[in-house]
Amino acid sequence: MSPFAVTRTLPADATAAALRSDVQRGLTATPKQLPPKWFYDARGSELFEEITRLPEYYPTRAEREILIDRATDIAAASSARTLVELGSGSSEKTRHLLDALTGLRTYAPVDVSESALTLAGRALLEERPGLTVHALVADFQHGLELPESPGPRLVAFLGGTLGNLLPAERAAFLGSVREFLSPGDALLLGTDLVKDEATLVAAYDDAAGVTAAFNKNVLSVLDRELGADFDPDAFDHVAVWDADHEWIEMRLRARTALTAKIPALDLAVTFAAGEELRTEISAKFRQETVRAELAAAGLSLRHWWTDAAGRFALSLAFPED
Ligand code: SAH
Ligand code: AVI
Repeated sequence: MSPFAVTRTLPADATAAALRSDVQRGLTATPKQLPPKWFYDARGSELFEEITRLPEYYPTRAEREILIDRATDIAAASSARTLVELGSGSSEKTRHLLDALTGLRTYAPVDVSESALTLAGRALLEERPGLTVHALVADFQHGLELPESPGPRLVAFLGGTLGNLLPAERAAFLGSVREFLSPGDALLLGTDLVKDEATLVAAYDDAAGVTAAFNKNVLSVLDRELGADFDPDAFDHVAVWDADHEWIEMRLRARTALTAKIPALDLAVTFAAGEELRTEISAKFRQETVRAELAAAGLSLRHWWTDAAGRFALSLAFPED
């Protein structure tokens, strides 16, 4: 195998079918909603990278701080020869792990964003010619089919992306990770932590409007992929803290009553003035909820590390016998 390969586990038409069915279901539901994975076309992936550099968006910096402090401990505890990363995006923070994992042979980044995988893979290949990079364009919620690779394997799920799944989706996802792990393999999980509302809301409603552009980008995806006629300027970006669920909700609120046509679905979707479409949840965690969700999937939390300010946590968990 060449040192850098990109494989699709889903044919492009399966992705198109999944988009059609998510949009059909989500925009005819009450309240309207869309799964967040559709943010990440090439533009969405670029906007997310911009978000990670915003002064208000602390999670990336906090997680990087932990990775820098703990990469050696993670390497010693996992002895990984293969690193699988789910929702790897730019793989930017992952470099700290790649540096510390001295026995590593294969890096397998998995993402729905082919553009992010290609950019990250090319850069890594130039930086680390000895590393085999096997990138996979795949949906980590639909069965993990990964290439044969030497164990022990470390599965990394960074950035707090677990929090973008609903509780039942998290349980199913963690169960599928558990099934994928053999004895001696491990899961490295990044989770953002519950904190004061003002800090949280600012992180999802930045002054420069980058998160608003990221949120509205999902409408551009529907326009391009499904021939829809959404006008992103007809919607306001909304970020609210739901204290009961302990999650941030991102929504798009129609400024006026409007109808959007989606020809690929033969559908017209009406919005009342002020009606909202939920585009993302971003759940925030506590140590006990992370431990309990891992345990429910048959994973045992062995290490819990936070940044100095206690904003974000990295957990290292192992399959229970
Ligand atoms: N891990 C990186 C990127 C986080 S952004 C970081 O910590 O900075 C979330 C990433 O997950 C994006 O690259 C997005 O394309 C990917 N993603 C979201 N939902 C996904 C899914 N269902 N399957 C695979 N990748 C997904
Ligand atoms: C990828 N994920 C963890 C980000 C988050 O913080 O929930 C996505 C994001 N949405 C708005 N800003 C960033």
